[in-house]
Amino acid sequence: MVFKKTDQVQLIGHKNYLIYLDQNSFSTEYGNFDLKAIRKMKPGDKVKTHMGKEFTIVVPRIPDKLRKIKRAPQIITFKDAGIIAAHTGMCKEDVVVEAGGGSGAMTIFMASIVKQVHTYEIRKDFHAIVKKNLERCGVTNVDLKHADVTKGIKEKNVDIVMLDMGAPASAVPGACKALKPGGFIVGYCPTVEQVVKFKNSLTKFSNIIVREIIERIWEAGGDMSRPKTAPIGHTAFLIFARKI
Ligand SMILES: C[S@@+](CC[C@H](N)C(=O)[O-])C[C@H]1O[C@@H](n2cnc3c(N)ncnc32)[C@H](O)[C@@H]1O
Repeated sequence: MVFKKTDQVQLIGHKNYLIYLDQNSFSTEYGNFDLKAIRKMKPGDKVKTHMGKEFTIVVPRIPDKLRKIKRAPQIITFKDAGIIAAHTGMCKEDVVVEAGGGSGAMTIFMASIVKQVHTYEIRKDFHAIVKKNLERCGVTNVDLKHADVTKGIKEKNVDIVMLDMGAPASAVPGACKALKPGGFIVGYCPTVEQVVKFKNSLTKFSNIIVREIIERIWEAGGDMSRPKTAPIGHTAFLIFARKI
């Protein structure tokens, strides 16, 4: 396989780099990479910087790309995104409606799993950021709208409605009409006050469960294996419910 100029590669070694191959060279603290030479290589090949530091070329996966997207509003992190996918049974036949788009992190994650994502984003500047991030990640199964989700959801027979917006309760009537019976609504609520308002709005839903996911990363090796000292930050409560 020879890479095209429009491709990205992930270089794994002393550090990880996601690189666009449309330039001729890429500078790092470990030296410069000759991208013209990398374009003639294949995944698994080793490449050295001009300082002799060796890296392995791989095809980037979604988490590699997500770590490099342009961020505007706070994104949904991997620990919460993974749990949302698992508990909703997100799969390749699914049609998902999402609001808001924000930075597009959850959009790109879900688009890598499902058939189609319809994303509503009310702010023009954030809509532009999501559009750019979708392009950079090569995502083509997202219908991105510059629209207020509370004014109505056009889609019908939807499998999952994913809400990460200031007032998710205001989108519930529209979500209820859009969802198929048994379809999931998920609210991503950073505060308890949002959880209460959202839960109270779910009168036409069943199986309501509120979850908070705590992740602890460990430093492993030698005789110093222990949880990392970085604080365990709160992200949000996840509220799951099914339309009946
Ligand atoms: C925290 S961000 C979402 C981040 C996103 N989940 C991600 O992972 O990148 C919340 C977004 O909801 C958008 N929003 C708020 N109210 C909205 C509405 N009524 N309709 C559509 N988008 C809305 C905001 O403009 C903001 O971009």
